[in-house]
This record gives sequence, C-alpha cells and structure tokens, in this order.
Amino acid sequence: MEPGKGSKHRGLSNISGNSEDVAKYYDNWSSDYDETLAEWRYDAPEQVALMLMAELSRKSVILDAGCGTGISGRALRSAGFETVDGVDVSRRSLKIAGMSGVYSTLRLMDMQRFPLPIADGQYDGLVCVGVLTYLTDSTGTLREFNRIVRSGGVVVFTQRSDLFAKRNFRTVLKGLSGEGWIEHVRISEPRPYLPDNEEFGDKILVHYVSYTVV
Ligand SMILES: C[S@@+](CC[C@H](N)C(=O)[O-])C[C@H]1O[C@@H](n2cnc3c(N)ncnc32)[C@H](O)[C@@H]1O
Repeated sequence: MEPGKGSKHRGLSNISGNSEDVAKYYDNWSSDYDETLAEWRYDAPEQVALMLMAELSRKSVILDAGCGTGISGRALRSAGFETVDGVDVSRRSLKIAGMSGVYSTLRLMDMQRFPLPIADGQYDGLVCVGVLTYLTDSTGTLREFNRIVRSGGVVVFTQRSDLFAKRNFRTVLKGLSGEGWIEHVRISEPRPYLPDNEEFGDKILVHYVSYTVV
C-alpha cells in the first residue's frame, strides 16, 4: 500500500447504527466518495451485479437498497439491468446518484424505519452493497427485503465478515430458510472488501450472500 493510502476517512470501520449520524457522515463524504472507493479498489458492486445477472433477466426491476452516490447502480446497469431504483438515507449522495442518470427513481429513505414505504412484491431483485453494517436489526431488515421482493425474486447482499459472525447471520438466514421464507441460500467465503484501505485490508473481509424469495 502506498504511504497514506487508505488513511482518509479513518474510522470507517467503526459502526453507528444511528441513521441521522450515518446520513451526515455520508453527506460529508459524498463529493469524493467515488474517488476514494476507487483508490481502495472497491469492487463489491460489480461482484454483486454479476451474481444477480446470473439469476435474473435484464428486464427485471431492481432495487439498489442503500445506493449511495450510485456506484452500485452503475454496476447493475453495466451488467445489463435496464430498470434500477435507488433508496438511501444520505440526501447529498442521492443528488450525486441522480446526476449519473442510471436510476429510474431515487428516494430518500431510512431503511431502519419499518415498514419501508414500498409495496409488497414490487421488485424482482434487490441488492444491498456495503449497507448492512449500519442496519442493526438484521432479521427485521431481511424480512422487509422479502416483503418487497416478489416470490421467485432474488436478493444479493454483502456483509462484513466480523459483523456476519457477531450478528449471527448464518443463524438468521437458517431461521428464514427454516420458516420457508427463502431458499437457495448461498454464502461466499470471506473475500477482500477494501483491499487498499488500511483498516480493512486483509483484516475485515466480506461475505457475499444470495437467496431466492419463496
Ligand atoms: C458504503 S456506502 C455503499 C453505497 C453503495 N451501495 C455502494 O456500493 O457504493 C453505505 C450507504 O448506506 C447508506 N445507509 C446507511 N444507513 C442507511 C439507512 N438507515 N437507510 C438508508 N441508507 C442507509 C449510506 O447513506 C451510504 O450511502
């Protein structure tokens, strides 16, 4: 790693589950977020888009849940999806996402306020990339994802390896599967997330998860 590379935005690995604090944090970061993430060699959006493309047709309507400045939406569009909506709690990030022109709709939304103001079964697919860190009710969040994605639709998300363990994601997913809400659950091995960020590097990795809504 080059000297100093990854030292910007120190404290990124510290978690706040307070949506107002998170909104402020990402509002303040929004203007150079894309550039910084590129420096850290962030490629989770591309990985997630390819996983979804393997499961759903390009005509599918996709929600980018926690779209930020639009990196994940751009990856979905590049992978071939024609209709992508985005929601996020950071107003300034949404403004930048809007300028990218890749989203059909963009909405300011706190995804910790249930129920989300989205109709049942509205989406064929949903991606949530780099966001679950901030959403403290894991079961509640995944239940909401299941409600707004139609039966047969697909959810793909990332979760940091440390939080995947701490928040018992394996058990949460087993529970939803056992109750018959989801099937075909796939959990990747931990993979590099922000390889050139000194807090993450080879210390905090990420799991990629995909499943089908029953
Ligand atoms: C690491 S960024 C990921 C953004 C985008 N998915 C990407 O891959 O570049 C995390 C995003 O989650 C959003 N976020 C965090 N908590 C949220 C909440 N409660 N509701 C909606 N968005 C939230 C932040 O505003 C931020 O844009």
